[in-house]
Amino acid sequence: MCGIIGYIGQKPANEVIFDGLTRLEYRGYDSAGISVVDENKIHVCKDIGKLRNIRGLLLNDFGSKSPIGIGHTRWATHGRPSAFNAHPHSDCDNTLMVAHNGIIENFMSLKKKLRSEGHKFVSETDSEVLAHLIESHYRGDLGNAVINALKEVKGAYAIAVIHREHPDKIICARKESPLIVGIGEGENFVASDVTAILSYTRKVVYLDNLEAAEVTREGIEFFTLEGEAVKKTPTQVDWNPVAAEKGGYSHFMLKEIYEQPQVIRNTIGGRTSEEEGKIYLDELGLTGPEIYKAQRIVVVACGTAYYAGCVGKYLIEKLVKVPVECDLASEFRYREPLVDQNSLVIAISQSGETADTLAAVREAKIRGAKVLGIVNAKESSLTREVDGLVYIHAGPEIGVASTKAYIAMVTALTLLALMLGKIRSVLSPEYVQETIRELKVIPQQIERVLDKHEQIKEFASHFMDSRSFLFLGRGINYPSALEGALKLKEISYIHAEAYAAGEMKHGPIALIDHELPVMALATESNVYDKTISNLKEVQARSGKIIAIATEGDKAIYQLTQDVIEVPKVSEILSPIINVVPLQLFAYYVADLRGLDVDQPRNLAKSVTVE
Ligand code: AGP
Repeated sequence: MCGIIGYIGQKPANEVIFDGLTRLEYRGYDSAGISVVDENKIHVCKDIGKLRNIRGLLLNDFGSKSPIGIGHTRWATHGRPSAFNAHPHSDCDNTLMVAHNGIIENFMSLKKKLRSEGHKFVSETDSEVLAHLIESHYRGDLGNAVINALKEVKGAYAIAVIHREHPDKIICARKESPLIVGIGEGENFVASDVTAILSYTRKVVYLDNLEAAEVTREGIEFFTLEGEAVKKTPTQVDWNPVAAEKGGYSHFMLKEIYEQPQVIRNTIGGRTSEEEGKIYLDELGLTGPEIYKAQRIVVVACGTAYYAGCVGKYLIEKLVKVPVECDLASEFRYREPLVDQNSLVIAISQSGETADTLAAVREAKIRGAKVLGIVNAKESSLTREVDGLVYIHAGPEIGVASTKAYIAMVTALTLLALMLGKIRSVLSPEYVQETIRELKVIPQQIERVLDKHEQIKEFASHFMDSRSFLFLGRGINYPSALEGALKLKEISYIHAEAYAAGEMKHGPIALIDHELPVMALATESNVYDKTISNLKEVQARSGKIIAIATEGDKAIYQLTQDVIEVPKVSEILSPIINVVPLQLFAYYVADLRGLDVDQPRNLAKSVTVE
């Protein structure tokens, strides 16, 4: 889960590369490095730490204006974060450099073989093996050396390679890990994703699995790892560079929380007809019979996407009357899942590059299931492996803690459930019309919740030193509690656990005392009374309740004064609103604790390795 970038053009490569790395840093930020070819010599600078801490080394005091180079920002897998484990890695004589994202599974045996051939290793990483392997295959043609070396490699990789005898080209290749090539005027780029180069070009080519490219100033040649030439068609990216900027907010996460009203408009935009009571998901790509045939739906995803899927379960079972199972992708892929041609698998992912989710999709397809992808990142690997697609249109999400993508996923799942429910004649056109009408006012209602940021910040300042938190929710808002707890854990490093409120008395109630804050989802619902009685059990044990409640709810104040009121919406739409105060609460707790909200420790935005 690293970020790699390459540049060949007219400008000082280290400047373009450093700029690109800052936009890739959400992929990994424990160390970084840049290397260029300068007068047939390799020049490299790399060190441990975040880019802002090694800016001097990689930019002001870099010491070369060479217009060709590669760079890397790291999320350590093999070898702890350190200057010598940072990328790019060289071969024995500093003739070539490699920047790598992924994991080389057979690196130990390759290292042993290369050592026996006299190669000297300086790092603890798996990636350094690639530099020595290419060196061992090099006979003057860099492209050939790279593809012959990769024939020996098992695992996942996206790589960029430069060589001091080839100051006019960068070789790049991918297997599993994402890689794109950017096409400019007299300059070209290699990058892990589009955000790195958006401010230079929007003309990109997505490399497919087992493809490589020779990138020069004048042009790009694509070939397979078997050496056959490949014709590729560039894509024009519709994300504008500003979308990848902070826009005056102190953190990307806060900006992305405030983007949510517009994100929901984008997700539902052009997909609903209130007049007809109809939903249109044009890129769905699944035929009526395939939808009808689905006797069972299985959701596979990870992290926040999984919790969105759990909301989807409630929505689809309620509105479509088809059984839905939610499965963690990392579990699904190894448990020989009982899916077949009568199953519809829904894979949810913001990045579309999460290794476990991709592997779960492949498992499902092997067993004959149809797979629908609910994805944010255009053209990502997942979009090329599924049978049908629903893009969530959240725009680039930079903050590692996912917010707007979650809300867009839940909104897209709501549209899908309404559409399937209508097609399978479970829902009347009137019901769909009414729900579309309600969905369309949700953006303003979220703006009203965002206006309560001062109150939420106040609550955050009260509880920011808590050692632990319990989140409680019931029914369709149990997943909201799960997501709220994850947000707090991810960015504030406070241990937080979410429980279905009805389950509390079967164990976690033992945790309740006057020191444990309990965040409760208690908005209007068919389980409201049950939730209130659960909260009375908390109150009886002096637990400190912070409640998310529906505007006008007076009863809740008998349990606590710490109430965040949210506008009234129908129960099935409440998860879209209820998560917003939880996101803001987590944000303010982390910010007040002085933590790096956008780049929390040990995390990365998309987990491209297992
Ligand atoms: C959420 O805030 C985390 N960044 C993480 O749990 C994330 O949701 C998970 O890694 C799945 O990522 P994806 O949606 O890109 O597949």
